[in-house]
Amino acid sequence: MAALPIVPPDQYQWLPGDERLGTWQRGKLHWVPVGRDRGNGGRIKLAGEPMNPLAERLVNGMESLIELARLQERIKNPTASMPASPREAVFRYFGFPKLDAIERLDDDERKEKSALADKVRKHLSIRLDLEKKRKEFTVTIRDHGMGQTPANIHNSLLSLGRTDKADKPYLIGVFGQGGSSAFSIAKYSIVVSRRAPDIRKSGEGDGAGWTIVREIQPKGLRGAYYAYLAATEAGEVPFVDAAQADAAQFEQGAHFCHIGYDFGVSDSSIARTMYQSLNHVLFNPVMPYELYALRNTPEPMKGTAQRLARRVRMLGRNVALDKSFAQQPVL
Ligand SMILES: Nc1ncnc2c1ncn2[C@@H]1O[C@H](COP(=O)(O)OP(=O)(O)OP(=O)(O)O)[C@@H](O)[C@H]1O
Ligand SMILES: [Mg+2]
Repeated sequence: MAALPIVPPDQYQWLPGDERLGTWQRGKLHWVPVGRDRGNGGRIKLAGEPMNPLAERLVNGMESLIELARLQERIKNPTASMPASPREAVFRYFGFPKLDAIERLDDDERKEKSALADKVRKHLSIRLDLEKKRKEFTVTIRDHGMGQTPANIHNSLLSLGRTDKADKPYLIGVFGQGGSSAFSIAKYSIVVSRRAPDIRKSGEGDGAGWTIVREIQPKGLRGAYYAYLAATEAGEVPFVDAAQADAAQFEQGAHFCHIGYDFGVSDSSIARTMYQSLNHVLFNPVMPYELYALRNTPEPMKGTAQRLARRVRMLGRNVALDKSFAQQPVL
């Protein structure tokens, strides 16, 4: 960041109300509030437990894959009807049913549907890294879905209370808020996105938009807010052109890297906790994803519902999974 032409927050800042401290300097990057809302601190900090924002990001990633398939369908057939639910969309576009239901199919069909689900999970991943010296975690969520054009990133990935999903029953999000909760758990977040080429409209730029998000604590004021680096006064983010994005091997989709992610613990046990917690929070996700928890080989993530169904299949259908306990004295 030291190499970037950033105007420091004490020279440019949003004040409560619609006032600005300092003026915009052309050609420089400025910290602008997420959602262009100086009062965003309270809402973004509502995140609570640190696993939930990661689940929000993963769900957004699933939606970006579904929406990409829907947009591709509409290019081929503009009158194609909307899927009525996320699961219907996944079945129509990717060919597999609920992940736990796959476990109850006959051998041949189960193998076929599992293979289809496994193909999809390669497009969505979450990665946990540990910076050993500082004992800091980084969490990266990457999808290869629809992505956003550089000119639209501030209105989507960095917006607040805005959503383009409300009229789409085949998507999940409704509030325009979920994704941003991760900003409050991290010290810095890097956001990069590139629109999928086959759904780009004419005139929309290729290339990848990028920005960094952090908390700004104004001197002498108590209300902190979350801000991202903007390149224009209208709030657009900086970007690299298509050739540069290609050279960096950055393909379509979205990349969120949350640096200094605070799980409340600093040892590697969090890798195991993450596996358990994500499978619990995303109990029966509409599609699987991959978890790289402090290692370079992925674990396929399909939710606890699938794990239970699989276990029942292995043990035979008549085995109950419940454990029985002797009566316990109440002290
Ligand atoms: N991975 C992604 N790829 C492309 N666009 C995304 C991605 N994640 C978020 N977006 C865009 O950013 C917007 C904001 O996401 P956010 O999760 O905050 O809200 P939402 O999903 O619309 O609703 P909810 O608050 O219920 O999750 C979305 O409406 C979508 O347009
Ligand atoms: Mg969402």
